[in-house]
Amino acid sequence: MCGIIGYTGTNQAAPILLKGLERLEYRGYDSSGIAVINEKIDLIKSAGKIKVLEQKTDGGKKLSGVIGIGHTRWATHGVPSDVNSHPHLSADGNFAIVHNGIIENFAELRAELSSKGYKFKSDTDSEVIAQLIQYYYDGDMISALCTVMSKIVGSYAVGIISTYSPDSVYAIRKDNPLVIGLGANENFIASDFAAALEYTHNFVQLGDGEIAKLTSRSALFFDAHGNRMEKTPYRVDWDISQAEKGGYPHFMLKEIYEQPRALTDTVRPRVKNSEIILDKIAFDARNVNLIDKIDIIGCGSAYHAGIVGKSFIEKYCRIRVNCVLASEYIYSDPITDNRTLTLIISQSGETADTLAALRLAKKMGAHTIAIVNVVESPIAREAHDVLYTHAGPEIAVATTKGYTTQVAALYLIGLKIAKIKHTVSDARYSEMLDELINLPQKVEQILNDTDSVKSYAAKYSSQHCVFFIGRGTDYAASLEGALKLKEISYIHAEAYAAGELKHGTISLVEKGTVTLALITQSALYNKMLSNVKAVQSRNGTVLAIASQANIAIEDNSDGMLTIPDCDDDLTPILTAVVLQLFAYYVAAERGCDIDKPRNLAKSVTVE
Ligand code: AGP
Repeated sequence: MCGIIGYTGTNQAAPILLKGLERLEYRGYDSSGIAVINEKIDLIKSAGKIKVLEQKTDGGKKLSGVIGIGHTRWATHGVPSDVNSHPHLSADGNFAIVHNGIIENFAELRAELSSKGYKFKSDTDSEVIAQLIQYYYDGDMISALCTVMSKIVGSYAVGIISTYSPDSVYAIRKDNPLVIGLGANENFIASDFAAALEYTHNFVQLGDGEIAKLTSRSALFFDAHGNRMEKTPYRVDWDISQAEKGGYPHFMLKEIYEQPRALTDTVRPRVKNSEIILDKIAFDARNVNLIDKIDIIGCGSAYHAGIVGKSFIEKYCRIRVNCVLASEYIYSDPITDNRTLTLIISQSGETADTLAALRLAKKMGAHTIAIVNVVESPIAREAHDVLYTHAGPEIAVATTKGYTTQVAALYLIGLKIAKIKHTVSDARYSEMLDELINLPQKVEQILNDTDSVKSYAAKYSSQHCVFFIGRGTDYAASLEGALKLKEISYIHAEAYAAGELKHGTISLVEKGTVTLALITQSALYNKMLSNVKAVQSRNGTVLAIASQANIAIEDNSDGMLTIPDCDDDLTPILTAVVLQLFAYYVAAERGCDIDKPRNLAKSVTVE
């Protein structure tokens, strides 16, 4: 996610803006910029780190003015570059904006404004906001902002300054966070408290569809119709490090809770009138019917996402899918040609094994699509096509929102291909698309009720070994559950196809052995029941992770966690969230370094 700060006060704004941006660096970014009002709008922005701005402006001293806005950019639309950095200026230079979020209808708005003679400089969705404000401004800024909010579709937190209101900073928001800091003769807007906490502990939350108008001595709030609103300030007693985590004790927990937003941002902008638009990826009957094999390649959790995707794509597209570890693929002399579609999955987009696999697949003639979170990362740049997960920066080493958004992206690709190949009925396609769009709300339900998962985590936190079993897509999901637990709690955890347990591993099951059994595939319930009974008959302990249709398993388990009602084919995203929480709370009980587990790196850039 991008970082926003705005300042209006009696001190020079630029140094305060730069310092505030430094406080937002932890959010991850690829470019930054600030704009101040000094009669006209003075703006400086650049790809790269904030220190580039500091060097160019001598720490901000070269930019006069007591009003300004600043931004750290996490690219979603448009490569990281000077011109795509924020702030963006309106065509007449009288408005500057900084934006966090995604404008889903930016292409239509950009076309409309271009037809009216507006020229755009950047490839971003955000620039359209600055031009829209200019277009609708007729002397009343609040009215213009109300109109602009009624025109844009998507998620946004926006800071605005204008030469027409040289003493004010404005803000509007929908879905993306924005706080208002109330100081003594100075006021702030910020993406989160960290950027302003140094100056004030008094804040106001700006609600969806609301407008803030700040001067050094006043803070006025308006609803989406321009009516004044009263707001009650609240005090935030966090220190800076707490603020960077949004009040969560760890980045991992913060990122687990960001999944509804991440999933919405990954799926929602790609569904228009029930049609899946995979950005610039041109799937059509000709090229889809050429595909005779799909390879899915990744490492770690990305590989696990691929296993889930394999199960889904084979079922719905009726194409053979081969999911391979990148480190194995590159030395396996793979059977690949121009009829192979190769999906390369990577959160960081820079994992060396995965990059090497991409290069080999391309060399052998495969068409490659990267499913990546970091815009313009090496894997994103080198693949023929890219489908970005819009999870936002992922700071914790253990991936959570990175993984679930990868799975969601694979579901989109699977449904898109199945629709083209007519291997899914229209009714089933619509049903699955609706389910996928509604998944974030079901994730919210899980996140809003964590007492049970916390208590089981505490109960089993001293285990030395935990098994995860499942069948079909539950087996695929159990792979990720086992990895999450072992990488942050250091408990030996293994995932097994439930039907495989009896072929050897069950010899390890004894009194006290804990097995987490994923049971969301109703057609396989009876088989799973037998596997659960087999574990219990060896005095093993079974914790079931069940869907609503399978809660009868509780009678044959030592405990149960459930997921909200969901189509059997889409349960891996929901079971993943339960298992992320389980792993997190086990690791917390064990006092582990959750965000930075021993021996691990966020991205492995060596083979
Ligand atoms: C997952 O929690 C780990 N951090 C690790 O397995 C990771 O998924 C793997 O290294 C791949 O990283 P990537 O998605 O950035 O390529």
